[in-house]
Amino acid sequence: MSKHKDINNNASRDDIGSNALGPLTQNASAQMPSHPNIGLNAATQPLTRSASGWHPKVFIKTFGCQMNSRDSEALSGLFVDRGYRIVEKADDADVILVNTCSVRAHAENRAISFLGSLKSIQNSKFKIKNCQSPKVIGLIGCMARNLGEEIYKKMPHVNLICGPGCLDKIPDYIKKVSEKGSRIIDLEDRDRNEELYSLSFKVDSDRAGVVISTGCSNYCSYCVVPYVRGNLRPRNHQNIVDEVKNNIKAGVGKITLLGQNVNDYHYQFKIQNSKLKIITFVDLLKMISDLEGLKEVDFISSNPRNSSVELFKLMAERSNIKKHLHIPFQSGSDRVLKSMNRGYAIADYLDTIKKYKEIVGGSLSADIIVGFPNEEEDDFLATKSVVEKVEFKYAYIFKYSPRLGTAAANMVDSVSTEYKEKRHKELLDLQKQISRKLQKKC
Ligand code: 5AD
Ligand code: SF4
Repeated sequence: MSKHKDINNNASRDDIGSNALGPLTQNASAQMPSHPNIGLNAATQPLTRSASGWHPKVFIKTFGCQMNSRDSEALSGLFVDRGYRIVEKADDADVILVNTCSVRAHAENRAISFLGSLKSIQNSKFKIKNCQSPKVIGLIGCMARNLGEEIYKKMPHVNLICGPGCLDKIPDYIKKVSEKGSRIIDLEDRDRNEELYSLSFKVDSDRAGVVISTGCSNYCSYCVVPYVRGNLRPRNHQNIVDEVKNNIKAGVGKITLLGQNVNDYHYQFKIQNSKLKIITFVDLLKMISDLEGLKEVDFISSNPRNSSVELFKLMAERSNIKKHLHIPFQSGSDRVLKSMNRGYAIADYLDTIKKYKEIVGGSLSADIIVGFPNEEEDDFLATKSVVEKVEFKYAYIFKYSPRLGTAAANMVDSVSTEYKEKRHKELLDLQKQISRKLQKKC
């Protein structure tokens, strides 16, 4: 049973990319354009309220990572399955959803500011076209879990709040909000209904993102993901394989497997005599690589702790597995890594990279944080030295942003803004040189 709350009160961004080098794999603010290719027959759908039921026009604004973009796309598919229309402008919509990211304050601030700008739309005299109901304005995704009811206090024009575990419930909630004029909040952390992973709406006709797991159980001390997306929840491997097969059938041959921490994927189920069978990430990748018609598979994001020689051997063996590894190291200093609770020393990371280079020989990219509490100049120099040694094709470099509820939020944010900026710029400049050098070699 859902634990959502109805509140009877008829009142009524992203920062990945801004400092990224190389290809922008994580889209800045991916609002969903309608896509002509896969199963979308929006033009034939009836609009707003009609004798055959309610078919609202929906606009989704997305902040954050590729996982969020796929969530918005999948949600759009659910809407299309119900005969709703996806529109490209908030002004044209009956339902406006803001799919948010809480990883850094910058992303949250952008989403809040966008949500605030919707006040005038809610107050417009037209409300939902041809009826008196208020528009449905929803805050969904990570920030919903992070800020919850606070948003209702601050923003009377918002009437739906839904966490990342409850996205499949959104079509029902929209109906309820529009019919009753009540507010709904659902922040429960639960397994998503498989129905969510609809393929009825596609943003890219060439490549598809396929979610293999949600959440993360690593609890790095700076990271809000385990709190807003919950612990690691792997999807049933068969459902993942079926989603990839359906993409291939629809002509989409390039697949990106998505998870906050793909290497920790393990799905376990009972076979004969109550014995347990475990499907690991390497097993899953093998199954997907075996599928007929698959042109290319890659995955994001890998954790240095569990990136194994077995994985690298599979990558080397299979021509349809992309020879690229995104493997965040965050800091080059053991002291800082320990305080980040990353669970490895930098020598382990460099050893993994050495093996990857020997076995796969492909390209690399990483995430790095500068200005973590107590980061000294020597720690920063150690980070620079890893960037010089490894030679990443590109890197996402972030300034530390304290997140409420995380372990690091209790540490003193001791590095001044000036130093965070300085170190950020220095590392960006260094990475730029390396990216250019590697590009020339190609
Ligand atoms: N501050 C800055 N960067 C962060 N990341 C995660 N949490 C924070 C934070 N509090 C970065 C990490 C991670 C990427 C997705 O975002 O580098 O790998
Ligand atoms: Fe966050 Fe990644 Fe650490 Fe998980 S492994 S807690 S998602 S930084």
